[in-house]
Amino acid sequence: MSEIIVSVKELEKTYKTESENLTILKDLNLEIERGKKITIVGESGSGKSTFLNIIGGLDNPTRGSVRCGSYDLINLDEKKLSDYRTHFLGLIFQFHYLLKDFTALENTFLPSIMAGLPKKEAAEKARQLLCDVGLEKRVDHLPSQLSGGERQRVAVARSLMNNPELVLADEPTGNLDPENAKMIGELLFSVVDKYKKTLLLVTHDMNLARRGDLCYSIKKGKLELV
Ligand SMILES: Nc1ncnc2c1ncn2[C@@H]1O[C@H](COP(=O)(O)OP(=O)(O)O)[C@@H](O)[C@H]1O
Ligand SMILES: [Mg+2]
Repeated sequence: MSEIIVSVKELEKTYKTESENLTILKDLNLEIERGKKITIVGESGSGKSTFLNIIGGLDNPTRGSVRCGSYDLINLDEKKLSDYRTHFLGLIFQFHYLLKDFTALENTFLPSIMAGLPKKEAAEKARQLLCDVGLEKRVDHLPSQLSGGERQRVAVARSLMNNPELVLADEPTGNLDPENAKMIGELLFSVVDKYKKTLLLVTHDMNLARRGDLCYSIKKGKLELV
């Protein structure tokens, strides 16, 4: 039996600016089954980040419903929202957001320490994840001692640290050269497979998007299967 872990219904997002109302997403519907890898392509400005930020609990829709697991994102109080972001989600962005004074290992296990996991356990798990992304020889390196691709590999490892239900990736290869972009794409899909995670990834890179089980494009605020 397939289980729907993300259900978005009649979503609308309108930005109100001084001169006009900008409706970026309109009548957008999406259901994601557990374990599927879903990708969304769209031109710059089409609303990809807006959509992902809503699923990530970073922004509110103007209208519609968003349900992820047992969380109704429209009616989350602060405590539940923090719970959702800590335990349900793993996030990867275009920029790695690693802390510069912490090693690859520490950057990877930090989310688990914040979630209350004992340090020894957290470090062991982080070591395994860094090994999964091919960084076993770089665990004690600072971000400044890593290449761009390697930093993004740490970000991939970190996103899985709290054993999330859903991994959200916003242009995870957007800052990388083509070779590294291809490598990070492969790596991300392979670790998501290994840990049987659900992935929602947005990108303007069609080659990356094609790796999804289902690929959508955002057009005029709606999703269409590609
Ligand atoms: N806070 C905001 N206020 C007004 N317009 C915004 C705001 N955030 C994003 N937009 C507009 O919404 C559109 C979609 O942005 P975004 O979701 O970042 O696109 P993408 O990630 O696909 O490049 C853009 O035209 C952008 O200018
Ligand atoms: Mg974007």
